[in-house]
Amino acid sequence: MEFAKVAYEPMNEVHDKEIKILEKLLEKLEKNEDYTQEYKKFLEDVKNHFAFEEGLMQKYDFFAYIPHKMEHDKIINELEELQNSDRQTLKKYFDERFMPWLDNHINTMDTVTAGFFNMVNAKA
Ligand SMILES: [Fe+2]
Ligand SMILES: [Fe+2]
Repeated sequence: MEFAKVAYEPMNEVHDKEIKILEKLLEKLEKNEDYTQEYKKFLEDVKNHFAFEEGLMQKYDFFAYIPHKMEHDKIINELEELQNSDRQTLKKYFDERFMPWLDNHINTMDTVTAGFFNMVNAKA
């Protein structure tokens, strides 16, 4: 799975870690194995990923903090609502919604945000 790199290395590290956890979860879904733990782990990781970016945006007064946080919140709500869903529902969600969303989010919001962190020399 490949996603775009952004101009702020600590964000790339957070993304890479998340993609590894996501790959494990998708594998569990694909192989018909129990995915409960992986889903929990993934949800926790997504929350940490978003909190990391939001913390820095606040610290450095990023102008688009609110719209960026709103995108994050929407996804966390969806992932929490889907927590006890069956395999087919989750597969469909990741294929049709989460993956395209993440790809787009990294290419737009995260790219602009990372450029800003890079410019202000943000300390993670
Ligand atoms: Fe991100
Ligand atoms: Fe983000």
